[in-house]
Amino acid sequence: MAAYFLGVDVGTSGTKAVLIRDNGSIMGSASESYPLYTPRPLWSEQDPHDWWQATCAAIRRLLIETGISAHRIETVGLTGQMHGLVLLDGAGEVIRPAILWNDQRTAAQCRKMTETIGAKEVIERLGNPILAGFTAPKIVWVRDEEPKAYARAAKVLLPKDYVRYRLTGAFAMDVSDASGTALFNVGRREWDTDTLSDLEIPPEWMPDVFESPERCAEISAEGAAASSLIEGTPVVAGAGDQAAGAVGAGIVREGVISVTLGTSGVVFAASDAYRVEPSGKLHAFCHAVPNGWHLMGVMLSAAGSFEWFASTFGDNDYDALNAAAAEAPAGSEGLTFLPYLSGERTPHADPNARGVFFGITLRHGKGHFARAVMEGVAYGLKDSLELMHGLGISASDLRVSGGGARSGLWLQILADVFGEPVRAVNPGEGAAYGAALLAAVGGGAFASVKDAGNVVKAEGEMIEPGPASEEYAKAYERFGRLYPALKEHFEGIG
Ligand code: XUL
Repeated sequence: MAAYFLGVDVGTSGTKAVLIRDNGSIMGSASESYPLYTPRPLWSEQDPHDWWQATCAAIRRLLIETGISAHRIETVGLTGQMHGLVLLDGAGEVIRPAILWNDQRTAAQCRKMTETIGAKEVIERLGNPILAGFTAPKIVWVRDEEPKAYARAAKVLLPKDYVRYRLTGAFAMDVSDASGTALFNVGRREWDTDTLSDLEIPPEWMPDVFESPERCAEISAEGAAASSLIEGTPVVAGAGDQAAGAVGAGIVREGVISVTLGTSGVVFAASDAYRVEPSGKLHAFCHAVPNGWHLMGVMLSAAGSFEWFASTFGDNDYDALNAAAAEAPAGSEGLTFLPYLSGERTPHADPNARGVFFGITLRHGKGHFARAVMEGVAYGLKDSLELMHGLGISASDLRVSGGGARSGLWLQILADVFGEPVRAVNPGEGAAYGAALLAAVGGGAFASVKDAGNVVKAEGEMIEPGPASEEYAKAYERFGRLYPALKEHFEGIG
């Protein structure tokens, strides 16, 4: 009888559960959504109880819809939104709402913490600078701003690990998600005790860490009663959503780079060795592949820039805007767009950065503007790609996914701007599928995460760079000069 594996993704808009067979084929999926709270500008919070309820509801519905008995699920894998802070008290109760990955309240804490440790030492220990979205500055913010809540704290978890705690009673985390806490030594794959001590965060607050496909807990009687899973079913450590998504897209070895053209834009490369971009511009995190790492550039407004443009100036008519953009020449006759509509993370970690149209003339019409938006996003992604090339990472296979990959024009612009062939791939069930594959590795259906990643076939036509590449090489240089010239002016906008 076939064995089945369950993957659960505790995302920002909802939780998705995916059931797969031991050969990697998908049997079905179910999602449940929950609200996101923005109690103040730049704040972003969720109630961990909502994640738990949505997870149980999604699993129960998936079991009903697929008709597969929970007894046949051999292992469970978890993934989720990264960096979010869940604080529990000594009785395991949630102390305050979770502070999420896209929350920007901690700029002052990041500055202070970096001063305490020293900017160079931070990168040496953590592989990354301390960024506002990461977990550690949020802990320090609670200490600074909500001392009563802080006084109750006994455990720090990330979103998917809170769901694990409710399912199993165990406090556990995987190395890829731990990498985004700013408390983890990414090179050594363990908590950084010096950083914990410098920041006066008790080490016993941090859960045990495991490699992603390792079994680390079992479904408890309470977890089984709430979720309809079977008591004693093993749970693997899983991964942060970017690393799990990469496993689900087959990005498990060097030579393949994925570009996600979603609301945000992510350039992701697997790396067999631990490499750090010296200025910390690229995120250097542990991969879900044991003893592997990944490098990642995150743009906050990628396809989100085009969505904003379409809804503000184009009546949400994507086809008409695509057609108009296709009429405009490559380089948009000097019109350049800086895609920093929500500030930026890579390569300019700057919450003050803003979007810009530069070089407008009487000749420029709507098509030029639409094309300039696509081009600006492509230049921003190329910034991350160039940083990777600088570290000796190149790709024979550049796979583009996300809503923006549905535009043939945008794909051609990417190929032309990168000067490299690209192809659109359908990532299917995304991170939840990756978590299910990790469960399948933990359950013995695959010998390794690399083997599991090999079942994912990249389909999609190769799009070669065309003659516009030359024009784009000049336009990219123009783009690169604009942010440094405007940086200080962004600071004053407020
Ligand atoms: C990764 C990141 C996002 C979140 C949200 O660094 O911030 O991908 O994990 O899904």
